[in-house]
Amino acid sequence: MKFKRTLVTSALPYANGPVHIGHLAGVYVPADIYVRYLRLRGEEVLFVGGSDEHGVPVTIRARQEGITVQDVVDRYHNLIKNSFGEFGISFDVYSRTTSPIHHQFASDYFRHLYDNGKFIQQTTEQFYDPETQEFLTDRNIKGECPRCHAQGAYGDQCEKCGATLSPDELINPYNAVNGNPLTKKSTTHWYLPLDQYQQWLENWILENHKEWRPNVYGQCKSWLDGGLKPRAVTRDLNWGIPVPVEGADGKVLYVWFDAPIGYISNTKELCDANPDKYGKWETWWKDRDTRLVHFIGKDNIVFHCIVFPTMLKAHGDYILPDNVPSNEFLNLEGDKISTSRNWAVWLNEYLVDFPGKQDVLRYVLTANAPETKDNDFTWSDFQARNNNELVAIYGNFVNRALVLTQKYFDGKVPAMGSLNDYDKATIEEFKNVKEGLEDLLNNFRFRDAQKEAMNLARIGNKYLADSEPWKLAKTDMTRTATILNLALQIAANLSIAFEPFLPFSSQKLRKMLALDHADWSQLGSTSLLAEGQALGEVSLLFEKIEDEAIQKQLDRLARIKAENEQKAKEEEMKNWHPAEIKAATSIDDFDKMDIRVATVLDCQPVKKSERLLQFRLDDGMGGRTILSGIAQSYPDPSVLIGKQVLFIANFPPRKMMGIESQGMILSAVNADGKLVVTTVSAAVKNGCSVG
Ligand code: 2FM
Ligand code: ZN
Repeated sequence: MKFKRTLVTSALPYANGPVHIGHLAGVYVPADIYVRYLRLRGEEVLFVGGSDEHGVPVTIRARQEGITVQDVVDRYHNLIKNSFGEFGISFDVYSRTTSPIHHQFASDYFRHLYDNGKFIQQTTEQFYDPETQEFLTDRNIKGECPRCHAQGAYGDQCEKCGATLSPDELINPYNAVNGNPLTKKSTTHWYLPLDQYQQWLENWILENHKEWRPNVYGQCKSWLDGGLKPRAVTRDLNWGIPVPVEGADGKVLYVWFDAPIGYISNTKELCDANPDKYGKWETWWKDRDTRLVHFIGKDNIVFHCIVFPTMLKAHGDYILPDNVPSNEFLNLEGDKISTSRNWAVWLNEYLVDFPGKQDVLRYVLTANAPETKDNDFTWSDFQARNNNELVAIYGNFVNRALVLTQKYFDGKVPAMGSLNDYDKATIEEFKNVKEGLEDLLNNFRFRDAQKEAMNLARIGNKYLADSEPWKLAKTDMTRTATILNLALQIAANLSIAFEPFLPFSSQKLRKMLALDHADWSQLGSTSLLAEGQALGEVSLLFEKIEDEAIQKQLDRLARIKAENEQKAKEEEMKNWHPAEIKAATSIDDFDKMDIRVATVLDCQPVKKSERLLQFRLDDGMGGRTILSGIAQSYPDPSVLIGKQVLFIANFPPRKMMGIESQGMILSAVNADGKLVVTTVSAAVKNGCSVG
């Protein structure tokens, strides 16, 4: 089916922190590449974004920072909007879900479904804090993970082992904010009966959208195979859009109900303010000739492929997404990116450290885009791609073509003379680039598409290197002119091919080439620059990134890692509970143990063992050697020399690493797992019994 126009949405980020490279790589850069490409082709397209300002994440941030939720969303909405602007994410509208237009629109949308009997009402038991008199959402409940037994797992997920949880599974659940123990209390909510749409969804996705990316299709299939259940679309919370129904005091729309409606209300906001430019919002959302495409990350798939389409279908008037190109996740130096753990490269900070290098990050994130699987961002790869690709291939080619033109032709486009076979073969080769690029971009394969654009630069670089116009300039100016003309035409092509990916550099390059605009249809042409045309001022398109700049980033990450380890330890200590008392024993059993006191004469790590320390003890009976597996807890074992310790004297001797151990030294196991050797509170004779 041929559509008349395309509406592109990108997930609304929570306004609970700055945006980072994971956001950019997963959603915003691919969406922007696609939109810029369509615009270059002269297609009718609208790009809608905005901040997601409801839900629990923003309220948690407010509590952490000790400010109001409104202050949080104001601060981060502005910061995020600004970062997107800086990175050239070319939204037609970037609004927010706290806007009055959105509140009204989402409220009306809910009421429409409610009035038409599209919801069911259910009363269930939910976790409740009797002291603060509030129901708790999954994220605000913590407890022990039932899988890995880590303390501090969330009601929806354990960050330690990654298990998806429900709050009911947590051991000893408590209020994450104040540590209060929780009870259960019944509450009534409205549910979207997804089960009633199962058949329709199966047909719509599994039959009619087999072309969706395998990761998206696969996730939908597994949800559908599992059987859909009704989903609550309201919450007991005091931050959000009030449920517009009598008797629903203290209840708001679930954030995942109102956020995707934000795509519609933001379109409405734009169109209502500029009807001449953008037309009616309904044209974008209700006309079957509009193609709707959602760019999202993989944690949003179920909401965009199952829940939101069901909301649209239940309403009845709306179009459905034609495609949902979702990416997988980007990791940072091997670890999951995390806002709460500060494990991220924040866009606002990147801009301070690498001013003017927005395109470098766009390039690296696309080159490594997690399109089919999770991928890793590393600073060394960032440096290598900049220095070896952007600088050494693209930048070098453009610079040589321009500088040589300045040198030999006074900065004016030289005349193209007759072409030899090599020229013709080069032209043939770069003419194919357009078709290849289109095929990849139309299929959301941005990573390969960018490679294809870089290929064009490679072709140019090779052409110049092979043709050596700087040598010919001594003998054959006509030939030199032809070569440089062709090289400049390739450079002009590069400014078009790279426009969706590297918009700032393309603009810079066009300025150097004195071209005023880019048009996709001209890609492949060898007459983009007229003979005799004066070129603009030449400067470097890309600059080398030195080791020091990279080291600074690595040092920062190392610092954050150490801080996080410290915090995790503190959290573990805070939430530690003594182990259950063991089964009853008897004084007779205890009497069998011969526990004595000895002074440590020497204590050394055992060679080739990470675990063992070798103790030489004065036990009052001629001395003995004991090996103890506590090396990890005592990086400097000499601190134990001279201390009096307790040991079990009547264990049979045992050989480890070729050394005989004559007993066992007693240690306490601290909450963080570290071992602490026991001692006596006042000096006693070595060899004394303990009992
Ligand atoms: O995962 C998130 O960051 C959500 N705020 C995305 C919402 S997308 C849409 F529904 F608005
Ligand atoms: Zn766990």
